[in-house]
Amino acid sequence: MQNNTEISGYTTIVNCNKISFRRGEKDILQDISWKIQQGQNWALLGANGSGKTTFLKIITGYEWPTSGTVSVLGNIYGRCDLREVRKMIGWVSFNISSNIPNNDTAIEIVVSGLEASMGLYREYSQDEYNRALSALNMLSAANFANQSYVTLSQGEQQKTLIARALVNKPKLLVLDEPCSGLDPAAKELFLKDIENLVSHHDAPGIIFVTHHIDEIREWITNVFIIKDGQKLADGHTGNVLSNEILSQAFNCNCKVLNDNNNYSLKIDKI
Ligand SMILES: Nc1ncnc2c1ncn2[C@@H]1O[C@H](COP(=O)(O)OP(=O)(O)OP(=O)(O)O)[C@@H](O)[C@H]1O
Ligand SMILES: [Mg+2]
Repeated sequence: MQNNTEISGYTTIVNCNKISFRRGEKDILQDISWKIQQGQNWALLGANGSGKTTFLKIITGYEWPTSGTVSVLGNIYGRCDLREVRKMIGWVSFNISSNIPNNDTAIEIVVSGLEASMGLYREYSQDEYNRALSALNMLSAANFANQSYVTLSQGEQQKTLIARALVNKPKLLVLDEPCSGLDPAAKELFLKDIENLVSHHDAPGIIFVTHHIDEIREWITNVFIIKDGQKLADGHTGNVLSNEILSQAFNCNCKVLNDNNNYSLKIDKI
């Protein structure tokens, strides 16, 4: 397997080149290229059905593009062991909650991330539990380590799943709408914890999928927008979050309000 690719002093985390994905008669993704460099954190925006989840499935190797190439950390899909690459990717989908064994505690769920399993199928060492605890600590979540998952609040459950993804020290962390279901204060606390997480020297690059641009904070360096399966725009956050681009992305007249890099969206007319 190849090692990380160095480009201009950066490590390229994701390199998608001209990805297309067709199912039946439908072009779900067309000719999309995306490069994510180390040190960048991206928001991925797009209307419902625009192709975000499909694109993420291709990046994480769970779907295969009809044409185009994907490489993650220098590993070219089709010429590498995908199981090994997936260990470097944390994909947090909050839908997996339904697969969680009822009585597992938060720390048991986090430690099971070491085997990418749901449920404990082997004994874990004290050292492994310590790693799980430090993953919870990174999200200020160690206080509920021994509480059973089903009794946790939604925000606490979300943090548990992210800690589970972090326990293998991924290089890429994909968060699909992590703030959905959080109350306004819980959302702020949660985003603050992610901000603390990205400040760690070995923090993974993040892809943050959201429908709410007020969740795009300063640590999100770049934004990628998909429309109808095609790239509409990508680049630095401040350049991409414009009235024109977001109006096109969401098929409405909207205004981006920017108060000191705190963004919000006002819909003028539908
Ligand atoms: N296997 C498939 N077969 C046929 N159509 C599919 C398949 N997978 C996805 N689609 C379609 O592709 C389009 C993109 O779906 P996708 O789930 O990627 O959108 P999304 O941007 O994640 O939307 P949302 O914001 O609602 O989560 C949708 O129209 C969906 O119905
Ligand atoms: Mg989706």
